[in-house]
Amino acid sequence: MENIIQMSHVHKWYEIGGGKLEVLKDVSLCVNEGEYIAILGPSGSGKSTLMNILGCMDRFQTGEYFLTGEPVHKLKDAQLTRLRNQQIGFIFQKYHLIQKYNVLQNTMMPLLIRGMPRKEAAKISMEKLEMLEMAERIHHKPNELSGGQQQRVAIARALVGQPKLLLADEPTGALDSATGREVLRLFGQLNRMGNTIVMITHDLKVSSYAKRVIKIVDGVLYENEKFEPETLEGGTSDEKA
Ligand SMILES: Nc1ncnc2c1ncn2[C@@H]1O[C@H](COP(=O)(O)OP(=O)(O)O)[C@@H](O)[C@H]1O
Ligand SMILES: [Mg+2]
Repeated sequence: MENIIQMSHVHKWYEIGGGKLEVLKDVSLCVNEGEYIAILGPSGSGKSTLMNILGCMDRFQTGEYFLTGEPVHKLKDAQLTRLRNQQIGFIFQKYHLIQKYNVLQNTMMPLLIRGMPRKEAAKISMEKLEMLEMAERIHHKPNELSGGQQQRVAIARALVGQPKLLLADEPTGALDSATGREVLRLFGQLNRMGNTIVMITHDLKVSSYAKRVIKIVDGVLYENEKFEPETLEGGTSDEKA
């Protein structure tokens, strides 16, 4: 089985006012092909920082990170950009679609960036949009779609380049609960089709859809047998409400 993420002893800190604010502390994480992982933690725990590092959008001070065998910690910016474009499909809370482009144009974007001819890019994009039941909406602009539909377009866009990793940041955070469940069912389907998924969330219910849950508290990862701080008992503040 192919290794997708191999992160060892990563530390990330910010220098603030002469002090050192450590936001990721000795983070080690191994993700193999076909896994579906949720990283669950409260606000301020370091989720976005970890997501940005996993997504090759941010750097860290010490430790090692191999993405599909490539040593991210040693790569230059241009190499990181290429690696990111080829290996990762991003799904964001607020969809991040380009408003002036229609559904098909948005979906084709990662392929056009790679230099694929338009006709071929359109064909591949249509296949994904059909799978996501968005084929009837290809000429719509994002603002003419519901939140759930926009997220399905964003998922189609994440899939067109056949990335090794789907990286999702609070993918249901902007959706009502029924639409959120639909998107999570879709993630389950995509995982059964062989996609490797890492999903970041503050919501215990959302995390329960994943096959493996890793908690993050105060920049430290906790998984099953390890000690879990009591602050996480009962889930997030949303759960308690
Ligand atoms: N650019 C930055 N400079 C200084 N501190 C930061 C910066 N970005 C994030 N932090 C701090 O790092 C910690 C983790 O932030 P973040 O990863 O955004 O958490 P989460 O996404 O879990 O809410 C917080 O204490 C935050 O204030
Ligand atoms: Mg965050």
